Amino acid sequence: MEKYVIKGGQVLEGEVTIAGAKNAALGILAAAVLTNEECIIENVPYVEDTKVLLRAIENIGAKVKYIDKHTVSICGGTIGNGSELCVDDEYIRKIRASYYLLGALLGKYHYAKVALPGGCEIGLRPIDQHIKGFEALGAKVDLVTGGYVLAQADQLVGRHIYLDVVTVGATINIMLASVLAEGKTTIENAAKEPHIVDVANFLNSMGANIKGAGTDVIRIRGVQRLKGTEYSIIPDQIEAGTFMTMAAATGGNVLIKNVIPKHLEAISSKLNEIGAHVLEYDDAVRVMADGRLKSTQIKTLPYPGFPTDMQPQMAVTLALSQGTSVITESIFENRFKYVNELSRMGARIKVEGNSAVINGIEGYTGANLVAPDLRAGAALVIAALAAEGFSTVDDIKYILRGYEDFDGKIRTLGGQIQVVDSDKELQKFKLRVG
Ligand code: UD1
Repeated sequence: MEKYVIKGGQVLEGEVTIAGAKNAALGILAAAVLTNEECIIENVPYVEDTKVLLRAIENIGAKVKYIDKHTVSICGGTIGNGSELCVDDEYIRKIRASYYLLGALLGKYHYAKVALPGGCEIGLRPIDQHIKGFEALGAKVDLVTGGYVLAQADQLVGRHIYLDVVTVGATINIMLASVLAEGKTTIENAAKEPHIVDVANFLNSMGANIKGAGTDVIRIRGVQRLKGTEYSIIPDQIEAGTFMTMAAATGGNVLIKNVIPKHLEAISSKLNEIGAHVLEYDDAVRVMADGRLKSTQIKTLPYPGFPTDMQPQMAVTLALSQGTSVITESIFENRFKYVNELSRMGARIKVEGNSAVINGIEGYTGANLVAPDLRAGAALVIAALAAEGFSTVDDIKYILRGYEDFDGKIRTLGGQIQVVDSDKELQKFKLRVG
């Protein structure tokens, strides 16, 4: 099985270019099925999650074509011709966000059957708020044999929907279900993440009428039909943040290009606070660090707060900082699974409830590690790059879900990392890098 082998201890320097936002892409690719016309979507990250969602979209009958590695054409005009409006378990198991097809198909065809997303690796992830939104619009939502959610409606009518928790998934799914509904839908207590705004902008470029995305009240006036469009996805806030913390944790100097610095403010300000230097340009940030960083307190919150998807990468950085840091995870209850792995590298972290108390150490020692989920996997790679000696990171399938050419980008910064799938290759790498 493929794993990364890493020799730590290099100071990472150079430039890296960030791909399109995975989480925006997942909403946008699903949104494209809302029209019968062709949508051309640029800056789609070439990662497992988007590839799987595109296969799911093809499987319900849409025409999907890669124009180049990052540009995709989707034509939803053939959906349902001979295939059921049903998204199989196979896709949902690989990628939870296939459930965006529930909102999109319900919105367009008033019928959708999608396998129920199972338990996920970072904690309980219910979809009650999605269902509440669909029902408010007039859909009947049932759990049917085989573990499917069946949503159907004679008519969808705009309503006032108050979300009990701030949720990215439900906000996007309700937007998808309501853009073609009759009348006005208001989503209150909506999520404000940059990818919500991107999905709304994409829908508006198709002719939708959505106002207020990026604030906690989104107003959607239903339109009769949507048209094809061409659209370019925003840069990935979390991939950028991952390289920012990588630069900080390895005492490096990295220019991170193709970013929107405003989306990175929560991360930049924490890095500045602990003694790294973040310089902002129009569409790039430079992160520099030398010497030991300082401790801090972090609480994950919905945007514009500190993103939960950056929590493990920041923890890896803080575990090398001077003093005691505390990280409180307030979005998902099971997001400290990387702590055991990090402890095996020498980290001193104690998890108490939804907080991790981190006593900084001087350095990690290399170890054989297993990625527990996507972001924690990336965090362990950062730890391995900062560590003394060799490490391996297993189960890289999680990392490949959300990072395009992760190891290639790290190598351009001088990091010593390679994908290997046998002991022989591992030994060869060790001999080569010494
Ligand atoms: C999305 C992101 C994920 C990120 C998360 C939080 C995508 C594909 N994934 O996940 O990377 O970590 O936002 O920024 O965009 N909740 C409910 N009921 C619901 C829905 C959610 O109680 O119906 C709860 C969840 O359990 C969680 C919180 O709301 O505690 C936030 O979840 P949500 O924002 O929906 O996360 P996802 O959309 O799954």
